Amino acid sequence: MDIRMELAGKNAVITGGTSGIGAAIGRRFAAEGAQVVLVGRNAERGAELVAEIEADGGEARFVTADVRDAGSVEQMAFEVAEECGHVDVLVNNAGIIDFGSVVEMSVEAWDNLMNTNVRGVFLCSKFILPLMFNAGDGRGGSVINISSNLGSVGSAGVPAYCASKGAVSQLTRAMAVEHIHQGVRVNALCPGTTDTPLVQAQGVDRTPEEQAAARERFNMRYPVGRMAAAEEIADAAVYLASDRSAFVVGAELMIDGGYTAQ
Ligand SMILES: NC(=O)c1ccc[n+]([C@@H]2O[C@H](COP(=O)([O-])OP(=O)(O)OC[C@H]3O[C@@H](n4cnc5c(N)ncnc54)[C@H](OP(=O)(O)O)[C@@H]3O)[C@@H](O)[C@H]2O)c1
Repeated sequence: MDIRMELAGKNAVITGGTSGIGAAIGRRFAAEGAQVVLVGRNAERGAELVAEIEADGGEARFVTADVRDAGSVEQMAFEVAEECGHVDVLVNNAGIIDFGSVVEMSVEAWDNLMNTNVRGVFLCSKFILPLMFNAGDGRGGSVINISSNLGSVGSAGVPAYCASKGAVSQLTRAMAVEHIHQGVRVNALCPGTTDTPLVQAQGVDRTPEEQAAARERFNMRYPVGRMAAAEEIADAAVYLASDRSAFVVGAELMIDGGYTAQ
């Protein structure tokens, strides 16, 4: 039996690593032998996850950063450079959702969403990519931008989110064709609705019956008949992070239960 770990010896930085999809990716990467750096704002959740990963025999540390803030991201990258030197994998996962048509949404809410979901990917890439470039030692890297099925198709009620993920998908292609020459592959993962705190927080003010009905509506939108588990997105991230995907450059990998195939 082949028991080789897929990410043995790789240093991986995961933004938004304190919750949901990012936390699942952190656990899975560590189980596959990566040294994991979890990035987020919530130090308490970060410390809990580091303890959990270490208890399972993995290696992890938490570095605080607000991905909207250039100084904060630059400081995070400095700490990562001190600790890891070379970075093999960057997962640009930190993101938020907000609701309302372009008429209803406040300018502040639009800016906050764009600053988190798009500026955050730019800033983390800007400061971490130089740690990933192949310095002649044959060691390149893999950037995984977490976009969404809603980066490719529209959905009522979430225009800012759709626009932000469309930008992430297009930024992925542009970065891919540029940075492959420095040994860095850039790809996007596009999850459909995934059962995380981001989704669970929607409708917390509703009755349990209304929440159950809302979850069922989510499930029915997907040909597969359900939403995803965060672990299913993490499985795909392992593939894009590993050397098995060496020929995958500038791709958008849909993990959306058939949503965009309809
Ligand atoms: N769940 C879905 O249905 C779904 C579907 C498609 C795509 N996605 C995408 O997947 C990614 C993760 O979503 P999720 O569902 O796992 O959400 P989540 O459980 O709410 O986690 C979001 C993560 O982003 C971090 N974050 C948010 N704002 C940040 C900021 N300004 N600076 C640093 N970190 C920040 C949070 O960390 P702190 O709180 O510690 O700051 C948290 O770790 C997002 O990009 C989301 O758009 C999710």
